Amino acid sequence: MGRPRIVVVEGDITVQPVDAVVNAANEHLAGGGGVDGAIHRAAGAAELHAACAALGGCPPGDAKATPGFRLPARWIIHTVGPRWRGGGRGEREVLASCYRRSLAVAEELGARSIAFPAIATGAYGYPPEEAAEVAVGTLLTTLSRLEEIRLVAFDRATADRYRRLLTRSPRPPEAGGQPGR
Ligand code: APR
Repeated sequence: MGRPRIVVVEGDITVQPVDAVVNAANEHLAGGGGVDGAIHRAAGAAELHAACAALGGCPPGDAKATPGFRLPARWIIHTVGPRWRGGGRGEREVLASCYRRSLAVAEELGARSIAFPAIATGAYGYPPEEAAEVAVGTLLTTLSRLEEIRLVAFDRATADRYRRLLTRSPRPPEAGGQPGR
C-alpha cells in the first residue's frame, strides 16, 4: 500500500487512457445527464444500461463497477454522490466515501490507474470549492495500491482549484515510513 501519484487533467473523462473511470451516477444507476450521460454515450448506451440494471442500484457513498465497453478504460466505477442540502446532512462524509469506495473497488479489480470527475458538483449542487477540498483531502490521505489518480476537471476553474489544493497540501509521510515520498 502506498500513496498514488495525483495528476490534474483538464478535459473529458471519457477519453482518459486509464484502467478505470469513475462515473457520477444516481442511486438507480439509470443514466442521466452531465458526466453520466457522456460516459453512457461514449461507452455504448445500450450495453452500459444493461450492465447497470444488473447491479440493483447503488446507495450514496458506495461504488459499483461495470465493464468500460467502448471506452479506452477497461472498467467504469459508478459512484453516487450526495445531493447538497445545505451541508448539515452528512454530505461531506458521503462525498469522501465516494472517493474511498471508488479506490477500493478499483483495487479489487486490479486497476493501476483511475480517473475521477468532480463528483456531485453538477446536478447534485455540491459547492465546488468544498467538493474539491473533500476530493483532494480524501485522496491524499487514503492508502492504495493504485499508481495514478487523475482528477479530471471539465473546466479551468476546477483544474485551478485542484492544483492550488495539491500545492498547498504537502503529502503526509508514509505511515511509519520516511517523509517526503
Ligand atoms: N468529463 C469530465 N467531467 C464532466 C464531463 C465530462 N465529459 N461532463 C460533465 N462533467 C463535470 C461537470 O462539469 C461537473 O463538474 O462533472 C461534474 C459532475 O456533474 P454531474 O455530471 O451533474 O454529476 P453530479 O453533480 O454528481 O450529479 C449526478 O446527475 O447526470 C445525473 O445521473 C446523474 O442523477 C445523477 C446526477
